[in-house]
This record gives sequence, structure tokens and C-alpha cells, in this order.
Amino acid sequence: MPTCENNACQSLARVISLDPLSDENYRVRLECPEIAAAILPGQFFMLRCPDRTDPLLGRPFALYDTYEADGKPVGIDVGFHVVGKMTGLMEDLQPGQEIEIWGPLGNGFPQVETGHLIQVAGGIGYTPFVAVSREALLGKQYGTESRQGIKAEKASLIYGVRTSRFRANMDDLSDLNDLDIQICTEDGSEGHHGLVTDLLKPMLENGEKDRITVLTCGPLRMMQAVSALCEELGVACWASLETPMACGFGACFSCVVPVKTEDGWDYRRSCMEGPVFPAGDILWQSIS
Ligand SMILES: Cc1cc2nc3c(=O)[nH]c(=O)nc-3n(C[C@H](O)[C@H](O)[C@H](O)COP(=O)(O)OP(=O)(O)OC[C@H]3O[C@@H](n4cnc5c(N)ncnc54)[C@H](O)[C@@H]3O)c2cc1C
Ligand code: FES
Repeated sequence: MPTCENNACQSLARVISLDPLSDENYRVRLECPEIAAAILPGQFFMLRCPDRTDPLLGRPFALYDTYEADGKPVGIDVGFHVVGKMTGLMEDLQPGQEIEIWGPLGNGFPQVETGHLIQVAGGIGYTPFVAVSREALLGKQYGTESRQGIKAEKASLIYGVRTSRFRANMDDLSDLNDLDIQICTEDGSEGHHGLVTDLLKPMLENGEKDRITVLTCGPLRMMQAVSALCEELGVACWASLETPMACGFGACFSCVVPVKTEDGWDYRRSCMEGPVFPAGDILWQSIS
């Protein structure tokens, strides 16, 4: 049985399936009805292997999307890139196995109402934008019915990867016919040969700047460049940080990031006050 406090639950989630998204990237489906019913786009949860002490600490993962049975959310999908101990174990998960989960955690993306929603993703940082796009373009409901959600007249996804073999397949976006998807690769193996900012810049310059909202998630340097461009052109931008975390619920302060405040700057816990921050508030030069 899950134990729940302050809207977050800890439980054992059953693995339903594991599917490849691309080389070294997977999507795992977990049955966890309490978390699925409450979690919002941009929020995250911690995962840990219950029967092991290595790795000892849980690892944070963003909501990829919720899935439903009989019209009710019953579980979540997690997109992950194999980089270390935990994701190395997750690559071998089998249906029926159980994994420890606690969440939902963090603030999620703001409920903006905007003309053009531009999502800028780098690598596995693309995962939160599946739920964001479904909410913005299809009106998918997350959390309680009173949630207004993210609303956009149109939406784009600029998705950059090092090389095409790391680009997640687009099957999970196939119902998003109106989503404008633009791919770029650093080596030119697919789409635009270059950086996400090469594609973002003309979109911002040619758009109505006060009717654009940019959301970004991915490597720090990429988000820093996206933030700088938005600041230069006067466009609202929010960044979802992938700061390493130990507890996930505000107790250990391992996840602090320096942000601007009225009287200078101060630390904020990425797991509690984030992981989504107004990009212009983050002191990027101190963390990148
Ligand atoms: C809010 C949030 C959401 C996130 N969402 C996702 C998501 O949806 N999908 C996803 O894939 N990731 C996500 N991440 C990132 C993920 O939590 C980390 O990549 C996590 O550390 C992976 O755990 P791991 O045990 O596999 O890797 P770890 O073993 O913790 O390794 C992490 C990194 O450190 C490096 N490393 C490990 N040991 C050493 C060493 N001895 N020397 C040098 N380098 C080393 C690894 O190569 C790797 O790059 C998210 C992070 C946050 C904060
Ligand atoms: S991870 Fe412990 S305070 Fe944020």
C-alpha cells in the first residue's frame, strides 16, 4: 500500500513494459495509480531499486506521460537515457518486477496561456514535453479537474541530439498532428546541422515576442544559451533543471541552485522550488 503525505506518495510500482526509444534510450511503463492521478507536466518522481543498496539513493525522473485504463490514470511512462548505475539497471527491468517510487515532486511547468509555445529540448531533456504538448494541444487532463493547464494556440518542439541514433522515435507524438517538430543534430546526421538555438533564433525574431513562451530542458549549456537568447529578445522562458538530487523532498539541500532575488541572490532547492525556474532568474555562470 502506498504511504502518502503532502500530495506525494511512496509505493512499489509494477513494471508493465519496457520499450526502446532509440539507442541507449528507453520508455518504461509503471503502474502507480496514486501518483498518476496527481502528477503534472514538468513534475518528477524518484525511483530506486527496492532490493539493493547500490545505488543507495533514488534518482529523479521527469514525467513522460500518464496512461489510462477505463478512463482513469493508472500509471506513468518514464523516458530514460542509460548513463550510470540506476539507468543501467532500469535497462534490464522485466514486466512484473517492482520498483520503489516517490512523488509527484517539484513544481512543474507554469500554467501559461500563450500564442506560441516553443519547447526546446536537448537529448533526454525532451521527455517532459510529451505531457506538456498533450496538455497544450489536446487538452489532456492532468491532476485535478480544477487545473486549467497549459494553453497554446500553436506549439513547436525543437529537439536537438548529438547524432540521429540518440533521437527518440516519435511514436509517442503521433497523435500530436499539430505539433511542429524540428530536429537538429550536432553532426548533421538528421535535420538541421547545428544547435537548437540556430532554429530558435529566427522563430523568436519573426514571431510576436510577447505572445511566445519558451520552455526548455536539457544540458545546462544548452539551456543557458536558450535563456540568454530569450533574454536578449525579450521572450518569456522557463527552464527545467536536471540538478543531481539525493532526497527529492527538500531535506538534504544537495540540489540547491543560485537564483536572483530582490536583494541579490540566494539558493533555491531544485526539488522543492524547482525544478522549473524562470530562466532569467538562474545564475547560469555559477552552475555551468
Ligand atoms: C528533475 C529531474 C528530472 C530528470 N528526468 C530525467 C528523465 O526523465 N530521464 C533521464 O534519463 N534522466 C533524467 N534526469 C537525470 C537523471 O536523474 C540522472 O541522469 C541520474 O543520475 C541517472 O542515474 P544513474 O544512476 O543511471 O547515473 P549515475 O550513476 O548517477 O551517473 C550520473 C552521471 O554521472 C556520471 N558518473 C557516474 N559515476 C562517475 C564517476 N565515477 N566519474 C565520472 N562520472 C561519473 C555518469 O556517467 C552519468 O553521466 C532527471 C534529473 C532531474 C533532476
Ligand atoms: S534533493 Fe534533497 S533538498 Fe533537494
